[in-house]
Amino acid sequence: MMLAIRNLSIAFPGSGGPVRVVDDVSVEVGRGESLGIVGESGSGKSMLSLATIGLLPKSARTSGEILLEGKNILTMSERALCAVRGRRIGMIFQEPMTALNPAMSAGQQIAEGIRLHRRIGRAEARAEALRLLDRVRIPDPARRIDSYPHEMSGGQRQRVGIAIALALKPDLLIADEPTTALDVTVQKEILDILDELVADLGLSLILISHDLGVIARSTDRTLVMCRGRAVEEGPTETVLRHPTAPYTRDLIAALPRRARAGLAEEPHAAAGGAR
Ligand SMILES: Nc1ncnc2c1ncn2[C@@H]1O[C@H](COP(=O)(O)OP(=O)(O)OP(=O)(O)O)[C@@H](O)[C@H]1O
Ligand SMILES: [Mg+2]
Repeated sequence: MMLAIRNLSIAFPGSGGPVRVVDDVSVEVGRGESLGIVGESGSGKSMLSLATIGLLPKSARTSGEILLEGKNILTMSERALCAVRGRRIGMIFQEPMTALNPAMSAGQQIAEGIRLHRRIGRAEARAEALRLLDRVRIPDPARRIDSYPHEMSGGQRQRVGIAIALALKPDLLIADEPTTALDVTVQKEILDILDELVADLGLSLILISHDLGVIARSTDRTLVMCRGRAVEEGPTETVLRHPTAPYTRDLIAALPRRARAGLAEEPHAAAGGAR
């Protein structure tokens, strides 16, 4: 199993004792599989993903296990974690502007990550950066490679964010609300790229979104979280078409009618082909 989260709990100290923000969650992600995580704001989605790359706030207390190919992330040394981040797990953030360095060009930021982990020369790293920009389908990559974040659109910045996450050839991508800050057409382009990466490179994907439409089109399995707990988990199609937990039913019922009708379609058919 690529990733196995077992009985994960995360708590923060509070005035009335520890506050559990993730409560006994277990879930698995196979190689080449995509897991969607949905749930209302504050349900613990981001804490779960930060725990998975070993980036929880210092004050967080954890129990349980997060096994990346059998090795527990929660007990790894900082040094071992550095090797995991980037090389094994790539992270894509909601607002690429905050994740990107405004003072470096797209190409520099991608190449920097590569050269931190691999002994290759500048020219070679730049050539690799160009390939990655092409891979995330940035228009005119030869020109864009020297652009700075403020010179790019939100969609282009998110492509650069994905290119950075891909630079070290990770096995698992975690995307926390990667399209929330983007308009609908750009959102679709970014999801197409993520779908492609899973299909072509055999990456595993954890896709966090409050948007059930996004989850429906791009994931194989879905975990529904509510107040830190896993209330439902299973194949995306089953979870969305035949939800068993009242909370999942409420989430679906809260969708506008047309979006609800969309969920009833074949999930991957809309994404352009079988996987
Ligand atoms: N550093 C911290 N100290 C204490 N509590 C925190 C800290 N960071 C987050 N929390 C709490 O943890 C809970 C879960 O937060 P988390 O960010 O995982 O939610 P989320 O599901 O990602 O929500 P959203 O959809 O808004 O991104 C929230 O109640 C939040 O207030
Ligand atoms: Mg979050």
